[in-house]
Amino acid sequence: MNDRFYITTPIYYPNAEPHIGHCYTTIAADALARYHRLAGDDTFFLTGTDEHGIKMVKTAAAQNIQPQELADRVVEVFQAMWKELDITHDDFIRTTQPRHKEAVQEIVRRLVANDDIYLGSYEGWYDESQEEFVTETEAKTNEFKSAVSGKPLVRYKEPTYLFRLAKYAPRILDHIQQHRDFIRPETRRNEVISKLKAGVDDLSVSRSSLKWGIPLPNDPEHVLYVWIDALSNYITALGYTSSDPSRFGRYWPADVQLIGKEILWFHTVYWPAVLLSLGLPLPKLVFAHGWWTSGGRKMSKSLGNFIDLGKIRAIIGKHGLDALRYYLLRAAPFGNDLDWTDGDFDKSFNELANVLGNCLNRTVKMIGRYRGGVLPAAAGDLQDVDRALIERSGKLGNELAQAYERCELQQGALLPVDLARATNGYIDVTAPFALAKDPGKAARLDTVLNLSSQAVYRALVGLLPILPHKAAEGLAQLGVDVQGKRLSDLLSRNLPAGQKLGEGRPLFPRVE
Ligand code: MSP
Repeated sequence: MNDRFYITTPIYYPNAEPHIGHCYTTIAADALARYHRLAGDDTFFLTGTDEHGIKMVKTAAAQNIQPQELADRVVEVFQAMWKELDITHDDFIRTTQPRHKEAVQEIVRRLVANDDIYLGSYEGWYDESQEEFVTETEAKTNEFKSAVSGKPLVRYKEPTYLFRLAKYAPRILDHIQQHRDFIRPETRRNEVISKLKAGVDDLSVSRSSLKWGIPLPNDPEHVLYVWIDALSNYITALGYTSSDPSRFGRYWPADVQLIGKEILWFHTVYWPAVLLSLGLPLPKLVFAHGWWTSGGRKMSKSLGNFIDLGKIRAIIGKHGLDALRYYLLRAAPFGNDLDWTDGDFDKSFNELANVLGNCLNRTVKMIGRYRGGVLPAAAGDLQDVDRALIERSGKLGNELAQAYERCELQQGALLPVDLARATNGYIDVTAPFALAKDPGKAARLDTVLNLSSQAVYRALVGLLPILPHKAAEGLAQLGVDVQGKRLSDLLSRNLPAGQKLGEGRPLFPRVE
């Protein structure tokens, strides 16, 4: 494990309110950041908004406002939403902030000084919804429509500055091949490798017909291509080129750059090329997760299957924020596509209630009823069933460390819940309610109550990154205050015998 951990989300376009896709990436990054903080790593978690480009200009024009006004309005919605979702980012960068614009201009100056940017021209297709140049072949394959949004491509023909992407392509390919874990999952890595092998051209990095963007320092008639501007946020937010680059020195290269799969190429080819030109190390991992569909179809407002803020808020109001986080992260192995169905949400909520909530509730209630709410010490010889539970709980810390190291967030959710399931099985088999009826079995009852508590305690600790509120609430019922404690401290100790437990209340009350 590192002693420092830098994680980023994409910076989102504030041209429309966030929806479940933006919330998903941000919650996933939040769970990873929370895990690493809990593990004691010096963690920095960055998110923000990508405010330049033609897409912002067109959306603003359609609303008869300036792009800056649109950005200011929508950014507030993003920030309010991250507050509602209790996202623990350490910084929120907006690409219209002076700190970003100044640093980006300095970055461009350095690229120009390296002779990596030269004047030329571009004629070809542009996908304005993705802010992406599209080759003739790709354009034809997709019938001159955006592969992501389906909107018609636009023909561009203008003088432009070009970045020497072709020069860096072999080094990038080499890096990807040498570093198995630079791009994950594996399928995404293979996609990038094939596309790189097919060959790349230099990249148009300026627009002379657009005014909304960062002017090139060497030719202010041009604004910088929005992706070069946006990708730079990952270092400008750390103070790269500023008078105080201490954060940059501490946190770069990023440990995990989390993105959706449609922006893989930008992050694994354009971004590394810029970094190489600047002489900077590449991020350790770019992880591309899958896309949410809804009811088996692409989410769209017209189909009425759009999981928007209204729906997200309704779910949080009814089932709580942690139930939403659990559903999103548990739904599929991290990296796969996912489909939202209300039925699946109910199943995942019931799993929390019936497995985790029930396990805690039974344990705390029995200790209340049979031992006056005071945790008894394990007594007498251990049986096989006891040893099996102890062994299983003892493994959780390492299993979680491995899962989080590999960004396997679904495992991060399931491993502790599986331990709670095993604990329920243990309670069923050891039948403490029957033991309680026989005064001769008091020592055995003590052991069963103690071991069940230790196991559910560990399950709750393991869930802190994913269910920060519910897990802490459950731990409070066991008399544990997690504030300021590290994972290793929490997992390496047992609940002390004699500990006074709190009151047993259902963690996930059923809702009709
Ligand atoms: N501004 C660029 C990113 C620049 S990063 C230097 C951008 N913004 S975006 O607003 O379109 O956000 C894209 C991101 O939102 C995706 O990469 C993904 O993280 C998230 N999602 C948007 N829709 C999604 C789904 N339907 N499903 C899952 N996540 C998706 O691209």
